[in-house]
Amino acid sequence: MEAGAGDGARALQRILGDLPGELRVGEPLAPHTTFRIGGRAYALYRPTAEAALAEAVVRARTYGFPWRMVGGGSKLLVPDRGFPGLVLSTKGLVSWVERDAILSAGAGVPLSRVARWGAWQLAGIPGTVGGAVAMNAGTRHGSIADQVAWVQALLPTGRVHTFPRDECGFTYRDSVFRRLRLPVLAVGLRRQVWRDLAPLLVERARSQPLGLPSAGCVFRNPGDGKSAGWLVDQCGLKGTRVGDAVVSEHHANFICNLGRARASDVLQLVDHVQEQVATRFGVWLSLELEVVGE
Ligand code: EPU
Repeated sequence: MEAGAGDGARALQRILGDLPGELRVGEPLAPHTTFRIGGRAYALYRPTAEAALAEAVVRARTYGFPWRMVGGGSKLLVPDRGFPGLVLSTKGLVSWVERDAILSAGAGVPLSRVARWGAWQLAGIPGTVGGAVAMNAGTRHGSIADQVAWVQALLPTGRVHTFPRDECGFTYRDSVFRRLRLPVLAVGLRRQVWRDLAPLLVERARSQPLGLPSAGCVFRNPGDGKSAGWLVDQCGLKGTRVGDAVVSEHHANFICNLGRARASDVLQLVDHVQEQVATRFGVWLSLELEVVGE
């Protein structure tokens, strides 16, 4: 950790120590991401109830600590220096109630469970329900917004509000929750018609590098039916490497961690890819990946 980090960690322990759930100070964040990259947080708190998460956010704000949520950590790049603040994990928020054809799922429920329940278009996407709603995760078959009935999220005042679907501001890989940094606490979903997930999972395993740590697609598709993977591929960038970060040979919109990649390696590779695609195609690829602290 950086100089002064010990003070920050101790202060957070004092501020949050009485809340229910698990508090880990000086926690390495790499194991909390699918990229397996990044430094430590001052503290990581895993509440087991929505009210405790809300209280932790209010206290972090009151004492001036930066904070952020992490679900499955599947779209995150944590800087090598870590995060000088509080990370709130939703992994303990796993409520699951089915009533009147609506599933109410806690933010930490794995998306794979929801896909099996009745959201086939999400098959194979890693991560949790809360993260998926915030970034409107999806595949070419649709996104989670297609099934959302309501979303319960925390307002900056500390009050919990239920947003009906049409107030969620869903667009391609985005929502009001991501734009305004409102922690998602729980989600109401309508079931889709049933469909066998196996062919979708096989197709994903065929076309994507699932055997190496990565954060999925790094860039958003730029619109007009263009695919970021195709653009990067056409520039001949598959296999380009900085340190242990490499543009996948399997799918060019993936950057994989070959073992000891640093966040700075990934960011250098991202810059290189963006420049190459811009000079060849006149398209600036924007990040789907979220860089913590930016
Ligand atoms: N392509 C290439 N070279 C590559 C990769 C792709 O030429 O290295 C071509 C493919 O042949 C295809 C086109 O690009 O003609 C599109 O590729 P693909 O079908 O793999 O879809 P994608 O647009 O790259 C999107 C999502 C994926 C999702 C897949 C499948 C985005 C940025 N990506 O990928 O989501 O799994 O569709 O539904 O929207 C993610 O968000 O992390 C992610 C992986």
